[in-house]
Amino acid sequence: MIADTTDHLLWDVKERDTKNNMPVVYIKPSVGVNISAGHPWVFSGGIEKSAPNLADGELVRIYSDKRFIGIGYHNSASDIRLRVLTWQDREINTEFFVQRFQEILARKAKLTKHTDAFRLVFSESDFLPGLVIDIYKSTAVIQIHSLGMEKLKPMILSALKKVIKLRCIHEKSELSVRTREGLDKEVNKTLFGELDDEIIIQENNFKFAINIAEGQKTGFFLDQRENRKALLEWCNRRKVLNCFSYTGGFSVYAASRAQSVTSVDISKPAISAARRNFELNGYLPNDFEFIAEDVFEYLKNLSYGNFDLIILDPPSFAKNRSQVKNAIKAYITINSKALEKLPDNGLLVSSSCTTHIDEITFVKILHQSAVHAKCRLVVLESRVQPADHPYLLSFPEGRYLKYFVLQKIAIP
Ligand SMILES: C[S@@+](CC[C@H](N)C(=O)[O-])C[C@H]1O[C@@H](n2cnc3c(N)ncnc32)[C@H](O)[C@@H]1O
Repeated sequence: MIADTTDHLLWDVKERDTKNNMPVVYIKPSVGVNISAGHPWVFSGGIEKSAPNLADGELVRIYSDKRFIGIGYHNSASDIRLRVLTWQDREINTEFFVQRFQEILARKAKLTKHTDAFRLVFSESDFLPGLVIDIYKSTAVIQIHSLGMEKLKPMILSALKKVIKLRCIHEKSELSVRTREGLDKEVNKTLFGELDDEIIIQENNFKFAINIAEGQKTGFFLDQRENRKALLEWCNRRKVLNCFSYTGGFSVYAASRAQSVTSVDISKPAISAARRNFELNGYLPNDFEFIAEDVFEYLKNLSYGNFDLIILDPPSFAKNRSQVKNAIKAYITINSKALEKLPDNGLLVSSSCTTHIDEITFVKILHQSAVHAKCRLVVLESRVQPADHPYLLSFPEGRYLKYFVLQKIAIP
């Protein structure tokens, strides 16, 4: 007798869940194993059968191999067809988000001791795919990257207000993935309360002025907080060049120990904001150098030996897999140029936030840069993102930030 393995495909009874009339999607058992183990994405090839007339962004119950495995949202316009919100059989309502936020806050509580700005929600890595929330004192900045989350926005906002005492919630969604999801490319608007032109945050022993509406991303690169602090150890009496400085995050820390600090960024507003941040921390901006220029050009024209510590923290060079080859070339260009201009025993602090370039690839890029610059590199320190930007072992894609302190050694 041939075993009947198809009864779970009898759609007349199971295309909608009898309990709450939620549509059902069946995924292939091989994919189901991965999802049950904690990966939150199902690509189109992983779908076995879906309830008819599923609306994009709609919540669905996910089954595999006859078993319920979770609840997520669906989008036929995205390569990622399903994103899992919960592996439990529960309702998705305001209370769901309240509970999620409370759980996250409990996990991150000790991180807020040395700062009043942190990432409350880091998307998949905090079990809320497509949602980012950064907190700057009593202002929350939210980013929505998927249609499914957009539809849940009213619940998210009321839950957020219940869990944290906020003066303002501002949406700053501007990722290119939004267009693939069928969302407006950019949203920059206040959803609750009033947005201050400037919020001054405290990070470790330093202050930074954040302009949420005009700044990049949600306003500040909170993910380098711990790396900025770690940099202090290497700055004593050094001549520091901070490339891709943005509003002077690494520069302000470096200025407390270094002999000199030069900040270079292509964005004029970012360079003006860097001067403001120096003032805020009690330094005279005129004692330091601020340059609005393309780093690729700047490094090309730089003289050998002007600096003995060079920081490279460029923006992501690859938004998708097709751009990885060019991104690798760009990383090798800036890292080899910086190494060529460093004296022997000088330090290169090199970071990459490109998700599609993993740590092993980045290490190969750094090695290749040393080959180009005819030197050797000793790794003095290697770091990742801070714990308020966590990564899950079940979702390694969330581990995106690489940070190395390297010493240039002459070929022995
Ligand atoms: C990841 S952010 C740097 C964050 C910074 N290290 C901090 O801690 O706040 C990247 C910065 O690179 C700048 N940028 C992008 N392309 C550039 C280029 N070709 N030359 C100089 N700066 C550039 C952006 O304006 C942005 O400020």
